[in-house]
Amino acid sequence: MTELPLERVLFTEEQIDARIRELAAEISEAYKGRDLKLIGVLKGSIFFLTALARQLSVAVKIDLLAISSFSNQKGTPGVVRISKDLDDSIEGEDVMLVEDIVDTGFTSRYLLQALASRGPNSLALCTLLDRKTRRIVQVPVDYRCFEIPDRFVVGFGLDYRQLYRNLGFIAVLNVS
Ligand code: IMP
Ligand code: MG
Repeated sequence: MTELPLERVLFTEEQIDARIRELAAEISEAYKGRDLKLIGVLKGSIFFLTALARQLSVAVKIDLLAISSFSNQKGTPGVVRISKDLDDSIEGEDVMLVEDIVDTGFTSRYLLQALASRGPNSLALCTLLDRKTRRIVQVPVDYRCFEIPDRFVVGFGLDYRQLYRNLGFIAVLNVS
């Protein structure tokens, strides 16, 4: 048995769906008349990305990248590298980085810097979850679905040792 007990549901499937619709309406309004390229970060953000993309009324392109993050001996995060790059150039395009969660901020800051250096017309950050209490580096979050408390969560793309990504809801996992 590899699964751990889920402590409580933070956001139900219905709550997530409703919030994504709200956010998609906001984004569609902001990008009216433009094409928007959504960039997903494998594997966590693809559930959110596809759900969001389906609700957008602007023309949407999609590209994906994958990252590896390393911790030092003290368990401090911060070293990130792109292990699978985008298929296409983003030069001159309106680009939105789609994240599963912004926690310490290291991953999003690194990716935003990497993408900015490729000359997009605009660059925004959209995240399913925002855990502001653990932020170490500042990143501009343009769109977020939910702010969450300092507890480890799984579901809707978020994993614990690669499990639980397929849950339709978001739950607190008891890792202690
Ligand atoms: P960062 O600390 O903002 O760089 O976030 C790094 C990554 O840690 C995220 O993209 C997630 O993959 C992972 N992560 C952070 N918090 C959680 C959590 O509560 N559940 C599952 N993954 C998490
Ligand atoms: Mg991730």
